Amino acid sequence: MQKLAAGNWKMNGLDAALAEIDALAAAHPSPECEVLICPPATLLSRLAARAEGTAIQTGAQDCHAAASGAHTGDISAEMIADAGGAFVIVGHSERRADHGEDDATVRAKAEATWRAGLTAIICVGETLEEREAGRTIDIVGGQLAGSVPDGATAANTVIAYEPVWAIGTGKVPTLEEISEVHDDIRARLTDRFGGDAGGMRLLYGGSVKPSNAAEIFGVSNVDGALVGGASLKASDFGGIVEALG
Ligand code: PGA
Repeated sequence: MQKLAAGNWKMNGLDAALAEIDALAAAHPSPECEVLICPPATLLSRLAARAEGTAIQTGAQDCHAAASGAHTGDISAEMIADAGGAFVIVGHSERRADHGEDDATVRAKAEATWRAGLTAIICVGETLEEREAGRTIDIVGGQLAGSVPDGATAANTVIAYEPVWAIGTGKVPTLEEISEVHDDIRARLTDRFGGDAGGMRLLYGGSVKPSNAAEIFGVSNVDGALVGGASLKASDFGGIVEALG
């Protein structure tokens, strides 16, 4: 299984930010892991063009479930493929919270991603309140059951475990806490999808940076990271790519 370093630029980046792609590609011409950047939709095709001939792949941060139609402001998975994207993040906690996306919506978006021939990165994770109430495993298990469509394979799906309280806060669960959740996710996927789930990549996300990446990647069933803040600068993200080598 090839590990995955996925960067999520969120609502950050103007044209000048594409210089980070040049720097990342120059510093890591042949990384051992897969490297993915998901810029805002406005930069998708520019980033894909800029990354051509490098090891850097391009993805989107969200898509609509439909292929086309009267959905002002939305973009479809087919449009993302047309712009040069290979992955789509679906069900990020910021979309679940800011746009009221529930598991059924996320599942439909993951199916749309497959329909366009792309790989879905399906996000799950508990809030601080849920963790403190001892409900983490139940919440994440429920999100997995509801958000991951039938037909998920190691090739078309990546799961990202992102505790909501660790995103952008500098707070990270203990390695034991990460291990408990990732082992449980692997077991649930294997129960539901059989042996193929063994090869499905499980990313950890939430305040990953160069200084904590290596120890997180040492945890069992952590196959890479989904990185927000530390993906914006090539020097930071490069440190995370190196830690996955
Ligand atoms: P962060 O964001 O790395 O800035 O915590 C992670 C994410 O939201 O994917």
